[in-house]
Amino acid sequence: MERKKWRTAISWHFDKEAYVRGYNLAQMIGNLSFTEAIYLVLKGELPSEKERLMLDAIFVSTVEHSIAPPSVIAARAVASGGNSLHVGVSAGVLAFGDAHGGALEGAMRFLQENIDKNPEQAVKEYFEKGKRIPGYGHRYYKEFDPRTKRILEIAKEIGFFGKYCEFAVAVEKEIENIKEKKLVMNVDGAVAAVVSEMGFDWRLGKGFFIIGRIPGLVAHVYEELTMEKPFSKRLDEEKEVEYLGEKPRELPPRYKRR
Ligand code: COA
Repeated sequence: MERKKWRTAISWHFDKEAYVRGYNLAQMIGNLSFTEAIYLVLKGELPSEKERLMLDAIFVSTVEHSIAPPSVIAARAVASGGNSLHVGVSAGVLAFGDAHGGALEGAMRFLQENIDKNPEQAVKEYFEKGKRIPGYGHRYYKEFDPRTKRILEIAKEIGFFGKYCEFAVAVEKEIENIKEKKLVMNVDGAVAAVVSEMGFDWRLGKGFFIIGRIPGLVAHVYEELTMEKPFSKRLDEEKEVEYLGEKPRELPPRYKRR
């Protein structure tokens, strides 16, 4: 058969009914939880009860954290410019990068590409290249990230604490040995270890954070639109901004054209 231009294995219509990964969508409704349906679209198969529980815990751990991170600032600032909900939420998603949210992808990649090395060697190689190890360090949590603690506890309880989690814990110790200061395994690091354990590819990493955090971003943008005045997200130049530029000066004569 001729290979067509667009291809997909995710969903299809058969006899006027939609099928997702081979399962009838109408039948899924009311039978599957949201997390089970997400697992199905991402992985292609239905999760076991333990896989559902683990993924559910992961999504809850990422659903919201505070008003402080760059994604919420971006989402609320864009909404306050007079844009509708989806524009603000999209701006929030665009703020996910290597330092926030996107670190999940980097952490999964780090774990999956280095799992056969010893943790000390993996950490040293990153440090020699001057790179930060994604999934470690936090602005606020300096002793431990409570989300990490809980995720790893659940992983242990239901059987997802295997080689990736052990490696991730060992990396935290190695970083401390080398830097002589603690950089906690953050939520991205913990989720990265567990979803690697569950057999997900690192290229899906940002997807877990996007799926988990969108409800929080929707709530923030809705709050901005309904509780605050338009243009509320502006800086107070006097209080919040340090000016580093030139003092006021005259435009040179040849530029004074009128
Ligand atoms: N790997 C290696 N070194 C790290 C590091 C990491 N993941 N995170 C911080 N450091 C180092 C910094 O290089 C700096 O070292 P120095 O004192 O020798 O200059 C020191 O730790 C403090 O760095 P700083 O950026 O001030 O820490 P912070 O607590 O303010 O930063 C992050 C927090 C999250 C931005 C930072 O830890 C980071 O970039 N982590 C990796 C990305 C990540 O996992 N993001 C998800 C956050 S939930």
